[in-house]
Amino acid sequence: MHGIIFAELKKYVDARLGADAWRPLLREAGLGSRIYVPVRTYPDEEVVALVSAASRTTGLAPAAILEDFGEFIAPDLIGMYRSLIRAEWRTLDFIANTEQTIHKVVRLNDSQALPPEIACTRSGSREVVVHYNSPRRMCAVARGIIRGVAAHYGEQVVVTEPRCMHRGDPACEISVALA
Ligand code: HEM
Repeated sequence: MHGIIFAELKKYVDARLGADAWRPLLREAGLGSRIYVPVRTYPDEEVVALVSAASRTTGLAPAAILEDFGEFIAPDLIGMYRSLIRAEWRTLDFIANTEQTIHKVVRLNDSQALPPEIACTRSGSREVVVHYNSPRRMCAVARGIIRGVAAHYGEQVVVTEPRCMHRGDPACEISVALA
């Protein structure tokens, strides 16, 4: 996983658990005094270990933490790629264009970045369905980013996941409907 995500995870832990929480969390995760820099990549297992440690520390389920983390990082992700975002877009346009416009450019700009392929189907003017099958199985992060994007546009959305890899489906399907 890209160092940007680890840098954001530290920022998230500082905000949610306090500025002193990161070092003990690294130790709890078995990662000693690791320092993450945003220009490198690190094993996916380290995100999993950190989220598991945060789950043990807070009593929250790992999926709840990942979803909250996704919502937390959305403003920074939007800020980083602001120039690619069209002024006329709203939540559903943004999500429907993530793959072709944003994740594609993220991959072109940085060969180490491997954001998931997010295929979207627009079913009418009020719903987008996101098809997600990344081997990282982080659909909770996707749900959180989606909520963060909706908050950015000041729109209410209903996010459901009728199919999910964690429930045995081959891929996840996340429905995002304007409320
Ligand atoms: C401005 C908007 C966005 C930017 C700049 C962005 C960028 C990134 C970057 C840099 C990563 C890390 C890739 C790596 O570790 O190699 C990532 C991961 C991810 N992105 Fe995005 N993203 C954006 C929007 C979205 C949206 C709207 C969704 C969901 C619909 C999404 C879903 C995910 C997920 C689930 C991951 C975790 C890794 C995985 O599942 O394989 N992203 N993104």
